[in-house]
Amino acid sequence: MNKKIVILPGDGIGKEVTTEGKKVLEKISELFDHRFEFDSAIIGHDAIEATGNPLPDETLSKLKNCDAILFGAVGHPKYDNDPTLKVRPEQGLLKMRKELGLYANLRPIKLFDELLEASSIKPEILKGSDILFFRELTGDVYFGEKGRKDEGKTAYDLMIYQKYEVERIAHKAFQAARTRKKKVTSVDKANVLESSRLWREVVNEVSKQYPDVTLEHQFIDAAAMKLIQNPKSFDVVVTGNLFGDILTDEASQIAGSMGMLASASVGDQVGLYEPIHGSAHDITGKGIANPLASILSAALMLDISFGLKQESEAVIKAVEATLKNGYRTADIADSKTPKDKVLDTSSMGKQVLAQLKIVGSRQIAVGSNYNS
Ligand code: IPM
Ligand code: MN
Repeated sequence: MNKKIVILPGDGIGKEVTTEGKKVLEKISELFDHRFEFDSAIIGHDAIEATGNPLPDETLSKLKNCDAILFGAVGHPKYDNDPTLKVRPEQGLLKMRKELGLYANLRPIKLFDELLEASSIKPEILKGSDILFFRELTGDVYFGEKGRKDEGKTAYDLMIYQKYEVERIAHKAFQAARTRKKKVTSVDKANVLESSRLWREVVNEVSKQYPDVTLEHQFIDAAAMKLIQNPKSFDVVVTGNLFGDILTDEASQIAGSMGMLASASVGDQVGLYEPIHGSAHDITGKGIANPLASILSAALMLDISFGLKQESEAVIKAVEATLKNGYRTADIADSKTPKDKVLDTSSMGKQVLAQLKIVGSRQIAVGSNYNS
């Protein structure tokens, strides 16, 4: 298979983790005989420094002309405490989502058994949790009208949804539920918000086309509580942009660490794959970031954008085997982890590559047996 992949490292630890994600893609192409052609581009703070624009035209045109994107993160502390700065790294990310029509953000929350102890939640509550979030990504307060009035003393961000925006993400959620436990939880705040009442109305309407899937509605406040109280009660969750942003950070604790969670953003054209963690400037340059979220994002790319199920499975199994061998980055290590098993970013990447070679070769051997 021939594919063009753009690596978009962005800011902070984005560069460190995508380096490892890219190596995994290279190893897959080698093991399974695919031709992946790589290009790279700038976005976020780096792009502002270089061009004044967080999403330069050159970047956008590369992104529009490739088969998939492996993205790191954007952000820089200099902007966080200075609201007066008009050009901001996050604008690059939001514009990219909008321009590429990436309206569905899939965030699978899957706990590797080896990490049961890494979470602050009790293992018996966590064990067996497997949730797939569909976060709407191009609407809501993120893209509604915003501004200031009263000489700057009043500020507003409009929470707005159109019927078609809810419809298309709801369909994606119901379709996914069909391949899983056939349950969709739609999360909103319909007891207060008009946009949530439209959301609920449309989800109910769409659900009629999926009579085999159970639909339940939860308010965002209750969902936030239940997610921690009983994560196993969820299968597919569909929600708006802001609620999804918050709920999935919370849900990362079910998977042990933010450093473990991959995501896929898809829509009508190209797919974008990224960790849910941010640029993490507190640990940038120290080489200790967990690359597994980026590596698992590469696995999602192989599956969703390229339909390479076996290859994707090989990456997940390699991550599993690495964890089984006891290797941890600092964020998923605990007091019982032996010092020599706590790895830096690139050593963790190397362990996954070594496992990939074993898992991949085994899969290829099994495949050829089937063929003969
Ligand atoms: C995410 C991030 C972004 C968001 C930020 C960096 C704009 O938190 O991808 O979850 O809020 O969507
Ligand atoms: Mn977020």
